[in-house]
Amino acid sequence: MKLNDFLLERYFAQYEFEIPYLLCASDCESFSIQEILQLEDGVENKFKNLKLGYTDSQGSPELRDAITTLYKDISNQDILAFAGAEEGIFAFMNVVLNPGDHLIVQFPAYQSLFEIAEAIGCKVTKWTMNSDNWNLDLDILINNINAKTKAIVINFPHNPTGSLISQKKYEAIIEIAQDNNLYLLSDEVYRLLEYNRSKRLQPACDLYDKAISLGVMSKSFGLAGLRIGWTATKDQNLLNKLASFKDYTTICNSIVSEYLATLALENYHKLVERNLSIIISNLKLLDPFFKKTPFMDWVRPQAGPIAFPKLTKDFSSEKFCTQSIEKAGVLLLPSSAFLYGDNHFRLGFGRKNMPEALSQFEAFLENTNLV
Ligand SMILES: Cc1ncc(COP(=O)(O)O)c(C=O)c1O
Repeated sequence: MKLNDFLLERYFAQYEFEIPYLLCASDCESFSIQEILQLEDGVENKFKNLKLGYTDSQGSPELRDAITTLYKDISNQDILAFAGAEEGIFAFMNVVLNPGDHLIVQFPAYQSLFEIAEAIGCKVTKWTMNSDNWNLDLDILINNINAKTKAIVINFPHNPTGSLISQKKYEAIIEIAQDNNLYLLSDEVYRLLEYNRSKRLQPACDLYDKAISLGVMSKSFGLAGLRIGWTATKDQNLLNKLASFKDYTTICNSIVSEYLATLALENYHKLVERNLSIIISNLKLLDPFFKKTPFMDWVRPQAGPIAFPKLTKDFSSEKFCTQSIEKAGVLLLPSSAFLYGDNHFRLGFGRKNMPEALSQFEAFLENTNLV
């Protein structure tokens, strides 16, 4: 299989650890090991005494138990741990798809959600969101399903727009998948970061047997460095195939990461609360910013630490992002990294130093003429 470059990751690889102000990160402020160990009494010693051997390939029973608390109707046998959500996506695509199959993917999207399928030799239909409000048209989904369609891929809360859909529409997507006997890969890595709790969607794996909910420690929990992700599905046949595939990628996770992830998930309300408080406080700066800044506009996100504003002047966002790096040391992510034209950019506001990064960005804008 030949994979095209993962544009977003290649862009980050050039700049992420060089540029002083990261204003496009997709994750929340990271917690330290010390902060995680302080979540429970008496765990520091246990942590230091962990033996650094291989671990249970499915994920430790303790980790899987902790993951099940995020779902309603999922047992620890329905969980398979991976090295990040990324490995889960890679395994799903490889196990489910054959050359010639067809996949429908919400778009714009995190690139691996469609790129791996294309590399396998599948036809991908991009189910493009309406850029005026980031809504999805169900008729487009229905009209594109054909005899070769194997799966639908969705992502709510959504990267890069921070958008959600109504529970009603979400259930309609699940019903369409069910009526057509399709897998539904539901990337839920930003779940729990809804600004309004009542807008939170139920996990897809609780609603449909052929749905796979994808989770990770990186986004909602601020623990990207653990590299722990998982799939949750009631489809045991699929889970067994995913587990067999994993034997050829990572075999099992690091015990250090699994231990810390378990501890974090046993206390996840505290982590999510801290992350949401950073996001909400940063959003209070972004609302007036978009009101007063003349040549950009946004659809205000509904969840998570990211948004996808648009340059209202006909100016290349790629050029704009390069200027922002060179003149202000502020990293933004141009929409070309999502293969989504050259007019939008991703903004990230899950980090504590976001107010400082925004001030730098504002100073850059005051001295910039978009012509
Ligand atoms: C929507 C989405 N899914 C999956 C991933 C992969 O997560 P991880 O890098 O933690 O494996 C990302 C990372 O940015 C993402 O944004």
